[in-house]
Amino acid sequence: MIERIEELLAAGRAAIEQARDTAALEEVRIEYLGRKAELPNILRGVAELPPEQRGPTGRAANEARKALETEIDARSSKLAAAELEQRLIDDKIDVTLPGDPQPSIGRLHLLTQTRREIEDVFLGLGFQVKEGPELETVYYNFDALNHDPTHPARLETDTFYIGEDLVLRTHTSPMQVRAMLAQPPPIHIIVPGRVYRPDSDATHTPQFHQIEGLAIDEDITLADLKGTLLAAVKAIFGDEREIRLRPHFFPFTEPSVEVDVSCFNCTQGLLEDGSRCNLCKGTTWIEILGAGMVDPNVLGHVDYDTERYQGFAFGMGIERIAMLKHGVPDLRLLYDNDIRFLEQF
Ligand code: PHE
Repeated sequence: MIERIEELLAAGRAAIEQARDTAALEEVRIEYLGRKAELPNILRGVAELPPEQRGPTGRAANEARKALETEIDARSSKLAAAELEQRLIDDKIDVTLPGDPQPSIGRLHLLTQTRREIEDVFLGLGFQVKEGPELETVYYNFDALNHDPTHPARLETDTFYIGEDLVLRTHTSPMQVRAMLAQPPPIHIIVPGRVYRPDSDATHTPQFHQIEGLAIDEDITLADLKGTLLAAVKAIFGDEREIRLRPHFFPFTEPSVEVDVSCFNCTQGLLEDGSRCNLCKGTTWIEILGAGMVDPNVLGHVDYDTERYQGFAFGMGIERIAMLKHGVPDLRLLYDNDIRFLEQF
């Protein structure tokens, strides 16, 4: 009997040593110390043994049980500690830490905001938004817009040529012609989009954005152009603004004008400290766009009845509007992607 107890003790110890986790160790405990296990059974049967065996057998069985219990307890704390350690490694989220601030979801780029703002204004005036190709034919970019064959804008120093008859459009005006070919009058559209010219400095980037406007109908006059632009300028720059039309030249409008907005940065050309206003250069007027009445030669390219239909067109730079409105000093800031700059708008 004593020998059997020693066997059980040895087997139990080996099993404890081999248990890899607390669940396995619990099975070992049940197998060696549980209610149906052999060692407790021996203990319970000690009373039935012959008297001279009771003492030694009882003692040996009791000691074996105690030894196994102690070793199971010791091994159990070790395994539990290791398991906790592993859980802490696996669940790295520490719920006791304060939550991180919400990451910023970003915002629309200032140019996108400005484009949409201008679109909204003209949508409110009854214009539709249309888009056109950035890769344009020489015909639509220049010829149909009444450019003389020797016009300097056609030079390779002023226009990106993609082969002989294709250019990156230098303005959104080609869409005047495309729109008129696509539908009969009346037409009231604006055309936002990218345009390209080989310039690069603080006020020019090789790629920039324009918004073209075109209105064609019966009885459209220069007064309609002025009224439309005044309403748009007030909506964009503030209700107190005035506009001024100066004579100018564009090949595809006649008469042509440049449009100025009254300066919103100064009084009478002077800043508060008495120095000259840097925005209007002391003139109280800021140039914002080119415009005019659509030249009958252009209408001739699309076979419109020039006795019956007239119209106006205008073109403005989105960058210029955004810079004026928000006091951005260098055009390149709009393209540097510096978040400290972009987050201000
Ligand atoms: N396309 C001209 C430019 O880029 C602007 C313009 C548009 C002028 C429409 C008159 C009418 O400078």
